[in-house]
Amino acid sequence: MATQNIVLIGFMGTGKTTVGKQLASTLSMKFLDMDNVIVERTGKSIPDIFAQDGEQHFRALERNLAHELSKQSGLIIATGGGIVLNPANISDLSRTGLVVCLSATPAKILERVATDTNRPLLASGDKMEKIEELLYKRKPLYDSISNQIDTTNLSVEEITENIIRTFENSSV
Ligand code: S3P
Repeated sequence: MATQNIVLIGFMGTGKTTVGKQLASTLSMKFLDMDNVIVERTGKSIPDIFAQDGEQHFRALERNLAHELSKQSGLIIATGGGIVLNPANISDLSRTGLVVCLSATPAKILERVATDTNRPLLASGDKMEKIEELLYKRKPLYDSISNQIDTTNLSVEEITENIIRTFENSSV
């Protein structure tokens, strides 16, 4: 049987990429960051896609990629924070993968994204306000994922071990 994917979901700054790379290295699986694939394929940065083509276009690219990846196996997938906005993405990605939602407090998220310029949804206005507003809107969507890890006070190793335990006990 093919190795199922591990799919990391969660708001910006919850650790999806960092944890995903560590998981890939520990499990000797391939790491794939959905935003990076979109950047490579379009030849544009995420802020440029949002500015030139609009968020809806980005969401369509994200939707197509989620569908494509649901047919692959053996991957550690870091999704973009807005993947939950379309429920079809979650049902697709759940089909061949263990889906884990990472979370963190708004203060910790702010600390992690403070100097970042690559996130168009946090680019204008007060970052903390934007984080709280988006988190409030999306909370039910993130909460609906059954595997949850609050990364606020955990090391990358602790998070990775926790996910591997769940992965080993899960079956698709
Ligand atoms: C987004 C999160 C980003 C990226 C885009 C939109 C979101 O990914 O996909 O800027 O809607 O939360 P990260 O969660 O990797 O920052």
